[in-house]
Amino acid sequence: MEWKPDRNMKKPIYKQIAEYIEDGINNGTFSTNFPLPSERKLASQYEVNRSTIVTAYSELEAKGLIERKKGSGTIISRDIWGITKKRIPSWNMYIEAGTFLPNIPVIQRIQKETTEQNLINLATGELSTDLFPHGIFQDVLQKDIPPLYFGYDHPLGNKNLRETIVRHLNEYRDIVTTPESLLVTSGAQQAIHLVIECLLKPGDVVVVEDPSYSYSLPIFKSAGLKVFYLPANENKIDSNYLTNLHEKQQIKMIFLNPIFQNPTGMLLSYRKRKEILSLSTRFGIPIIEDDPYSLMSFSKKNNTSTLKSMDINGNVLYISSLSKMAAPGLRIGWIVGPKSVIERLADAKQQFDFGHSTVSQWIANQLLNSDNLMIHMDFLKEQLQRRRDVLISCLNHYFGENIEYSTPMGGIHLWCKFKKDINENNLLEQSIKEGVIFAPGSTLGSKKGFIRLTYARSNEEQIREGIKRLYNAFKDYEDH
Ligand SMILES: Cc1ncc(COP(=O)(O)O)c(C=O)c1O
Repeated sequence: MEWKPDRNMKKPIYKQIAEYIEDGINNGTFSTNFPLPSERKLASQYEVNRSTIVTAYSELEAKGLIERKKGSGTIISRDIWGITKKRIPSWNMYIEAGTFLPNIPVIQRIQKETTEQNLINLATGELSTDLFPHGIFQDVLQKDIPPLYFGYDHPLGNKNLRETIVRHLNEYRDIVTTPESLLVTSGAQQAIHLVIECLLKPGDVVVVEDPSYSYSLPIFKSAGLKVFYLPANENKIDSNYLTNLHEKQQIKMIFLNPIFQNPTGMLLSYRKRKEILSLSTRFGIPIIEDDPYSLMSFSKKNNTSTLKSMDINGNVLYISSLSKMAAPGLRIGWIVGPKSVIERLADAKQQFDFGHSTVSQWIANQLLNSDNLMIHMDFLKEQLQRRRDVLISCLNHYFGENIEYSTPMGGIHLWCKFKKDINENNLLEQSIKEGVIFAPGSTLGSKKGFIRLTYARSNEEQIREGIKRLYNAFKDYEDH
């Protein structure tokens, strides 16, 4: 045993010796039946009291790692593999040590409550099942399905699907691109993650809107990015703030959800969209445009041009998905950008998951090619608009002057401010007791007193009942 305990360490010497032997057993240096030196011999070798070795050996014996037999010395346990198998790893230590951060506790709580309890759900940002395009799915799945390819697909995603998405983007979002500049991802979420993992490094400065969906994602923090927050509202993208910040901090990327933003529901004005694009071109800062909602406008006006459709220089990486317009369970999203960037992201996606399911890509391709998709979208928008109207009329009826909000002209979220000081997390607890759940503003932004109400996940009747329950919770909260 060449090793020696370190007398300058705070850890007691007996512990160091015990750990050294235990590590040796775990890494195979000392095998079963290996005779350990006598207590006296080891004490003299390490220049410590014999009692120190006695304590170290006693600790190892208590763990079942060594056997001490009177007259025949000390050996590594014969049944060590049986014993080591039975030793339970300190899972909590592993759970806490990982570099990838968990969701914040309130979000975990909302996820748990919405899956385990029968609450009226105004919290989850998704469509209710009756809004999914069931008719189209049924038609598609009853077709004579061609022999599907069940091997690993192309690294960028299925070629037919990419060609279809390219046509869809051209026709409905005014975006001109090619199948080689588009990567199919597992929802918009994976596209955001790939951008963060592949194009940024720890310490890089990024800007996200406050409040925003990105604000709620711990993946920015896990990646060690320095996040700065941009006040998000219809007209509040402040170019001076960005210019000053860039001069001081060198912004690496700006993450925006300009159309029917989650959670404010607001549409960034055309003037501001142009302004931010020109700022991006002036400084060469890429914009990541996250756009799950632009096809869900309630207005007849054609005022939802994406930044990507206005981007003549190639400064925007464009992300979208089928989650909000069709069904999130397909997990089909995409990202559009320069070929070299897309290839880099595709290479990482291969390492993460070897590409997307061929079955779900086939269904998505049929869905996007269906003549009925836009008929479904009209139905969806009409339903969402009705639910938004019910939500607003109930909010006005119950809460009146207690709250303020802007009416969303598309998408699925309404951002509501309480005029009095409230603690949204306490209100949430009270609401869960009353049988309704919402997203507290603190999960999505820095300002106090906001809540996000999603009107897509519950039907009109549930929304009516949900707001009544929310009001009861608010009254109880005020009375305490
Ligand atoms: C703005 C925004 N981006 C991205 C996502 C992720 O959606 P998905 O991964 O299902 O496409 C959401 C989901 O709510 C969202 O609101």
